[in-house]
Amino acid sequence: MSATRRILVTGALPYANNSLHIGHMVEYVQTDVWVRFQRMRGHECYFACASDAHGTPTMLRAEEENTTPEALLDRVYADHRRDFDRYQISVDNYITTHSEENKELTALLYTRLVDAGVITRRSIKQAFDETRNMFLPDRYVRGTCPKCSTPDQYGDSCEHCGATYSPLELKDATSTVSGTKPSVRESEHIFLQLGKFENELRSWVAERMEPGIVKKLDEWFSAGLQDWDISRDAPYFGFEIPGEQGKYFYVWFDALIGYMSSFLNFCRRTGTSFESFWGRDSTAEVYHFIGKDIVYFHALYWPAMLSGSGHRLPTGVFAHGFLTVDGQKMSKRRGTFILASKFAEHVDPDYLRYYFASKLGPAPEDIDLSLTDFVAKVNSDLVGKFVNIASRCAGFLHRLNAARLADEIPETELLQRFASAGQDIAAHYEGREYARAVREIMSLADLANQYIDDHKPWVKAKDPNNHGEVIGVCTTGINLFRILCVYLKPLIPSLTQRAEAFLNAGELVWSDADTPLLGTRINKFEALLKRIELKQVEAITTTREEQTMPEINTTDDDFIDIQQFAKLDLRIARVVHADYIEGADKLLKLQLSLGEEERTVFSGIRSAYKPDQLIGRHVVLLANLKPRKMRFGISQGMVLAASGNDDGIFLLDADDGVQAGMKVS
Ligand code: MSP
Ligand code: ZN
Repeated sequence: MSATRRILVTGALPYANNSLHIGHMVEYVQTDVWVRFQRMRGHECYFACASDAHGTPTMLRAEEENTTPEALLDRVYADHRRDFDRYQISVDNYITTHSEENKELTALLYTRLVDAGVITRRSIKQAFDETRNMFLPDRYVRGTCPKCSTPDQYGDSCEHCGATYSPLELKDATSTVSGTKPSVRESEHIFLQLGKFENELRSWVAERMEPGIVKKLDEWFSAGLQDWDISRDAPYFGFEIPGEQGKYFYVWFDALIGYMSSFLNFCRRTGTSFESFWGRDSTAEVYHFIGKDIVYFHALYWPAMLSGSGHRLPTGVFAHGFLTVDGQKMSKRRGTFILASKFAEHVDPDYLRYYFASKLGPAPEDIDLSLTDFVAKVNSDLVGKFVNIASRCAGFLHRLNAARLADEIPETELLQRFASAGQDIAAHYEGREYARAVREIMSLADLANQYIDDHKPWVKAKDPNNHGEVIGVCTTGINLFRILCVYLKPLIPSLTQRAEAFLNAGELVWSDADTPLLGTRINKFEALLKRIELKQVEAITTTREEQTMPEINTTDDDFIDIQQFAKLDLRIARVVHADYIEGADKLLKLQLSLGEEERTVFSGIRSAYKPDQLIGRHVVLLANLKPRKMRFGISQGMVLAASGNDDGIFLLDADDGVQAGMKVS
């Protein structure tokens, strides 16, 4: 393996005015797989990200919710972090761009750009909302297209004819913030002179960007690089520009710097050298993973900002395509706008990581999540092929060899073939050819299953003379499985963690594929993974109206949702009979009426109640508890009671007027 590389990786910073959806996860999964792969190879690889805090949308959203932008930010930040955790996105640092480090670096880069003579200023005319006393970003003005007269178009472009224009050109423009007609006002803005970097950008782009993107960039170069407006007037949620009155940095200016700031925050926390990554002479590698919609910012503005402020330029910028669901843009109306959190409630995120990876390549092509294909693919690959290898072998080793792997492998040819495939697979990961990596790994899984089919341990195990051979075959099988775990580990971290526990030999790193595991004990094989049912996926898409904002700031474990609660069938029941039970010193046998039907329930309340006290009284019954077979008969539900320290047991009852059979909710 090559010498240790020092690598910093970022994913685009998600906007803090919304929750993450599964489209975002395409990017964070793509990035995380790459990072995990690099770490498994023994490289020093950091992953920094943050929530993109500033801008008009955050400001307006906070106003709408009667809160401050900071309070809104806290909530969304927690929500983003939780989704990162759920999807096992292994960031080393996650902050928001509304942080001290970002304020500091934004001011620093700006002053250096001023000193470098690449900042200019001039007055511009903009739509102004007189009632709200604010300038309006293009997207907050709507009106009739000046070219084709289609009504109700955004201030920057027409969805009907594709024309782009300034909001001032719209016919009958309205402010979407107040519904009033905007006026036109002039104010001075501050610009980065992008054109001054043209030569440097051209050669950096040619050397560093993927061919698919370079063509698009060539078009932009040919169209001429325009000055970039990096200032906004108050009111604005952002950082004030040093030395100016009522002027703020445009959100994109400090958002890009957010990559550095998150890393600076990390460096200060951990004593890592910031300069050795971002200094002009850095030999470390820096990569940005982004979506194809934000290439302009990352391939032109960002390198210009870095260069003009005396920093190094990125080693690479990797753009991916967009996610569609069942062939179409995600849509709330069709129920295919899927929040990342919602998906994770119903389906193990490892499955989605695997599925995305199976579709991802290095080019910025869109990828489609077809829900039926998703279910079929993960069941067939992960459950049917991969996990199956271990489940077919583990039992025999437990039964015939006290859970120990053999000390030797009978034929090492297949094992060697698996190990040597590692080089190609590594090259695929490195080149973000995840789809190819997945195909190759699954064809190895086919070979492993074929090997087990050919050696039929389940037949041979019947004859004690063959036990040695069966142990050898199963040891081989487990080792093939283990190599696949190594190769799949960047993709499916939770599943491989469970597999590592089963293999009982520590955390797998890439080089483990070269040395078989022999003579050690494996753990009991528990189902590592369940098949997904189509109905789990359907449950995700059937809820139409999705909240796009996190309502409450809590962790998963603390709460259940109303659907989960609704699964409890709680009923009022009337005690018809109650009896002691021979041989049971805690239980009473209750005969309960639910109005239409009767139930027998054994309840542990003997210490607190005498049977005849209970007859005729109403209790609360969990009616859909799975019937439990007990020594004295079947118990068909559970009566609810309160109990504390040692103060006794108290049945719950209800106010006068209740009737048996009523639903409790
Ligand atoms: N805040 C900016 C990025 C600033 S980086 C200095 C932003 N935020 S975003 O929330 O809109 O998007 C974050 C990332 O997710 C972007 O790279 C974007 O391309 C990606 N995606 C957003 N929707 C997506 C899909 N439907 N599919 C794939 N990626 C998607 O842009
Ligand atoms: Zn038009």
